[in-house]
Amino acid sequence: MHKKISRWVKDKQQGIKRALVTAYDYPMARFAAAAGMHGVLVGDSLGMVVCGDQDTLNVTLEQMCYHTRMVRRGAGECLVFADLPFGSYEKSPEQAWESAGELLRAGADVIKLEGGAEMAATVAFCAERGINICAHIGLTPQRVRQWGSFQRQGSTDAEAQRLHHEAAALSAAGARFVVMEAVPDQVAAKISREIDAVTIGIGAGPDTDAQVLVAHDVLGLEAESPPFARRYLEAGNLQQQAFAQYVQDVASGNFPPRRPH
Ligand code: KIV
Ligand code: NA
Repeated sequence: MHKKISRWVKDKQQGIKRALVTAYDYPMARFAAAAGMHGVLVGDSLGMVVCGDQDTLNVTLEQMCYHTRMVRRGAGECLVFADLPFGSYEKSPEQAWESAGELLRAGADVIKLEGGAEMAATVAFCAERGINICAHIGLTPQRVRQWGSFQRQGSTDAEAQRLHHEAAALSAAGARFVVMEAVPDQVAAKISREIDAVTIGIGAGPDTDAQVLVAHDVLGLEAESPPFARRYLEAGNLQQQAFAQYVQDVASGNFPPRRPH
């Protein structure tokens, strides 16, 4: 096993929590690594928070590779996760393996894909051929057009049981990590206790093995954030203030300063 990944497994066993954040470019990865982040995720959320789309469906594999290369250069010791975007893996295990290879060559250590038990064969195919896979269950944003909105999952007993079954199937298929997004805390806790894969929660309570947040929420770069996110900074406001000051300084002649000849 990858030396860094075996640390994640050991920490799971010892109950030591780990933190990831998304990163889409070199500076974001550099700050995350310098802050002691354990992993950075090049998420296809970039379609929304970087590109301004309403969902993640327009993100291409080429774009994911482009951003993964930037993140890799800044990521230092962080484990780099990268998302397979919509349309690049669902058709067959072979398609997933080829697309995952592109992301590996771009610098990713772990490849993430959305879906439940129906993706287990794909996870096994890739894992058996040298690719570290992170599964993603619960609220899987690439399926938003089927649901009509970003909905919490697992609220009924039947749904909770389905999630449990999916997580177990994906872990058994060889997924090293499972992201659980917007699922009830107790469901995420139980799954985390019972599967070998390292669980990474977002909106899934405190009892997953690790947590992930979107950097633009942590930093306050989004206009609004989901209730489960924590905004540690209002960098959007600070950036706007800096820009406004610059505009004002140009208008008033305060910038640039007049140089003596
Ligand atoms: O794309 C993304 O940012 C993600 C995380 C929210 C898990 O998939
Ligand atoms: Na994603």
